[in-house]
Amino acid sequence: MKSIAVLTSGGDAPGMNAAIRAVTRSAVDRGITVFGVRHGFQGLVDDTIEALRARDVGGIIQRGGTLLGSARSKEFREPSGRKKALRNLSQRGIEALVVIGGNGSQAGAHQLGEMGFPVVGVASTIDNDLIGSEITIGVDTAVNVTLEAIDRLRTTGSSHQRAFLVETMGRDCGYLALMAGLAGGAEVISIPEVEVSPDEIAERLSAAYQRGKTHAIVVVAEGAKNGTNTILQHFREHEAQIGFELRATTLGHVVRGARPTASDRVLATRLGAAAVEALFNGQQGVLVGIQKGELAFTPHALVASGTRSIDFQMMELAKVLAK
Ligand code: F6P
Repeated sequence: MKSIAVLTSGGDAPGMNAAIRAVTRSAVDRGITVFGVRHGFQGLVDDTIEALRARDVGGIIQRGGTLLGSARSKEFREPSGRKKALRNLSQRGIEALVVIGGNGSQAGAHQLGEMGFPVVGVASTIDNDLIGSEITIGVDTAVNVTLEAIDRLRTTGSSHQRAFLVETMGRDCGYLALMAGLAGGAEVISIPEVEVSPDEIAERLSAAYQRGKTHAIVVVAEGAKNGTNTILQHFREHEAQIGFELRATTLGHVVRGARPTASDRVLATRLGAAAVEALFNGQQGVLVGIQKGELAFTPHALVASGTRSIDFQMMELAKVLAK
């Protein structure tokens, strides 16, 4: 193999830059020429592809976001867009592609693979919902940003005897909210996989107030059906019985923009290097991730077939420890 390309796609995740660096430098080390594709799959369609040398990826390991830019491309979802992408790759003599991204991106990678082009994926999303990897690039940083917000809100909450609702990202997966809630000692965690009704939230907070708590934290995943506004409305109507007043903070994209933690940088470095090694050894059509702490290679067809669920025991544990 003489020439590969790398792209980042979907929502950016802290650590993507470390993965680009690892892909580039491991490939250069094997004498492979590397191309960087701007703005994800859209860049394949538009042919915004340029050479990446070892020096081009210097000084980026500590930066959030992605040097290459990212996008969610509508054009690439159409067969005509994908054909155009393949034409552009072959005109440049590019023989294989590394796709760094989450669910939608790995589904796109699978489609290219089905058209006969060698692709290897790298598990990267703050949602941590990919089949084939128990941990994905970016989620550790996003959990830590959410946790820092929880800790700060707890401080002001206990000064005022208030409850705080913190809404974090995760799309349809509650992993991020669950882990931040567990680490932050939240009184209530509500996620799409285990919904908690506004009534039950009020009951649990009221009980916490009766037990003498000076503050309470409710972590809600953005995908939960009973969202922030519904819960706030319920509290406004029943504040007198509950004890705590409730304030809400929605973190949104703030959780995506941080400097990657050491864990995310190391994970991205391992996965990026392993993706190049896999291609070098003739492997393709797989996602590189981590299973039981070890590198794992999962067929893209399986990865694209659904999403990974959370550990329900953690949810139970969080409830017990909130007493
Ligand atoms: O998939 C990553 C993610 O940050 C989700 O948690 C969130 O639902 C979504 O992307 C937001 O997408 P966008 O950046 O396109 O608004």
